[in-house]
Amino acid sequence: MNPNSQKSAIAVEGLDYAFGEGETAKQVLFGIDLELAPGEFAIMTGPSGSGKTTLLSLVGALRRTQGGRLRSIGYDLGRLEGSRLEAYRRNLGFIFQLHNLFPALTAFQSVQMAADLHPEEAGQMDDRIRALLTRLGLGERLDYRPHQLSGGQRQRVAIARALIHRPALVLADEPTAALDGENTQIVLKLLADLAHERGTTVLMVTQDARVFESADRLIHLVDGRLDSDVRTNT
Ligand SMILES: Nc1ncnc2c1ncn2[C@@H]1O[C@H](COP(=O)(O)OP(=O)(O)OP(=O)(O)O)[C@@H](O)[C@H]1O
Ligand SMILES: [Mg+2]
Repeated sequence: MNPNSQKSAIAVEGLDYAFGEGETAKQVLFGIDLELAPGEFAIMTGPSGSGKTTLLSLVGALRRTQGGRLRSIGYDLGRLEGSRLEAYRRNLGFIFQLHNLFPALTAFQSVQMAADLHPEEAGQMDDRIRALLTRLGLGERLDYRPHQLSGGQRQRVAIARALIHRPALVLADEPTAALDGENTQIVLKLLADLAHERGTTVLMVTQDARVFESADRLIHLVDGRLDSDVRTNT
């Protein structure tokens, strides 16, 4: 099944989530309803502690859903186990703020290792890795190891690693936080092109008001509730 053939890429209905159990349980998401179309580029904002990362980790199946329904690129995340869970995760590109690059691997090798996990995408892979890293401004740094790269350069290697297998859905948590204005624009353009030219759905958390205009959707969370959800490019 082509995951992009779904009518909505992500469909969230009445999603609740609490950390802890019993007396010490603390609910952090309350009745979230959200639908994203394939190829939509959505930006999520909200105060610190409002539940953005929690929501992203539920959509990414890094946490198990509790109350409500969550469907994503054709998978029902409420009942995802074993090999289907693995298959789902392989369709995702995760970009998290705390990226861990292996110290011993060069920029090229780091991305290559991610690509090796997807043999179905093997054709012309070395050229693709080079092209993607070059697009991210790292063409001259292919053979550098993490300790020879700046924080922003490492972040861009992590972004390349998350995108090299052409995931159907990209989940990104403040991916541009370590980047200067120019590199922020490069990364946003890359994500917007993936969305608009390849039909990749992108859900990205950011506080960076400079980037809001790139988005098709602006979703705002406050205290675990969807405060507003605005379509920007209609
Ligand atoms: N593992 C955890 N155990 C218990 N509580 C948690 C855990 N992770 C997050 N929380 C709580 O859930 C709430 C939402 O956290 P979350 O990380 O989703 O916020 P956020 O919107 O991503 O914030 P920020 O902008 O600071 O990254 C917070 O009150 C936080 O304390
Ligand atoms: Mg967060």
